[in-house]
Amino acid sequence: MRALITAGGRGTRLRPLTHTSNKHLIPIANKPMIHYALAAVAAAGITEVGIVINPDTGEELRTALGDGAAFGLQISYVVQDAPRGLAHVVQVAEPFLRGEPFVFFLGDNVIVGGIRPFVEQFQARREDCHLVLARVREPQRFGVAEVRGDRIVGVVEKPKHPKSEYAVTGIYLYGPPIFEAVRAIRPSARGELEISDAHQYLLDHGYRVGYSEITGWWKDTGKPDDLLEANRFALDHLLDGAAPVIRGRVDDASDVQGKVVVEAGARIVASQVRGPVIIGKDVVIEQSYIGPFTALGERCVIRNSELEYSIVFADTQILDADVRIERSLLGREVVIRRTASRPRTQKFILADQSLIELC
Ligand code: DAU
Repeated sequence: MRALITAGGRGTRLRPLTHTSNKHLIPIANKPMIHYALAAVAAAGITEVGIVINPDTGEELRTALGDGAAFGLQISYVVQDAPRGLAHVVQVAEPFLRGEPFVFFLGDNVIVGGIRPFVEQFQARREDCHLVLARVREPQRFGVAEVRGDRIVGVVEKPKHPKSEYAVTGIYLYGPPIFEAVRAIRPSARGELEISDAHQYLLDHGYRVGYSEITGWWKDTGKPDDLLEANRFALDHLLDGAAPVIRGRVDDASDVQGKVVVEAGARIVASQVRGPVIIGKDVVIEQSYIGPFTALGERCVIRNSELEYSIVFADTQILDADVRIERSLLGREVVIRRTASRPRTQKFILADQSLIELC
């Protein structure tokens, strides 16, 4: 069985972060988001993986993931010319999939607990399609399954009036009929070939569509708050049961508590760190407070500042900020600093679609 993982699309809801980088490389607990999908697929015993990329940001993914050997996988890349929908993704990947059963995994979904049980159910029940569902508070943001007893009777993409609280997650198992379905459907009102329409086609044509429900943790990282929550969850599970990992240096005037990873070359001086927190290689933290659910990328510098519940990419600096920063997503090489020059005004240099909330 092969796996197909998406890493294309536009990433519009995560701008400005996605102006300069592919959404699937955004770090969650200091690992690119797509690593979680790759790990789940590898843990299910699948080794041949196709990654769907778009022409603009595909190179960045090829560079980051290579041939997959680092993950124990063989990665092939499938280029989708434009984001024409998830059913279109399946169409363009058909030669890679060779018409055989496969796992389709949306690369922006993060799941804890793996996918092996779903693969086993799909195979044991000899289904044509197996959808993994999760109960959610806002089903209208997702494909929604209408369930009767142990059967799915309908699937609608982002319905205004959802008929159930069951979101179809981004983990699907398919047999060969999916190729017929994605060729038969027509673009939706938003101009995409919707995967939900392919599912409805399978139902309408009498194919066996089964489902399981995720009871563990799952997140579609579509919006900034979802990224922060995925980061929180990944950090919380980072060190389950294990002692803190301190590969860098913590001086005597500092206090490091809870689930904390301090990578090699990092220096913590006269600061308080309260986990769960991960501090990347060669980070410098001085006279600062780093609070729970914070991930700091490599080579960041935090001086005389307070930060919590945030994702900070590599090479960013926060210097003498006099208010606590929280629920923030800071890209690469961002600088936030206090200036001594007069007049004391706020000064911003922001790229398109940046967001600042002042207090
Ligand atoms: O996460 C679950 C949801 O994913 C499902 O409930 C929906 O039924 C399904 O349509 C999908 O909805 P999203 O609005 O979240 O899809 P999004 O456009 O964010 O794309 C999901 C992934 O697929 C992401 O990795 C980007 C990639 N993608 C998307 C499109 C439309 C591609 O690679 N190519 C595409 O053409």
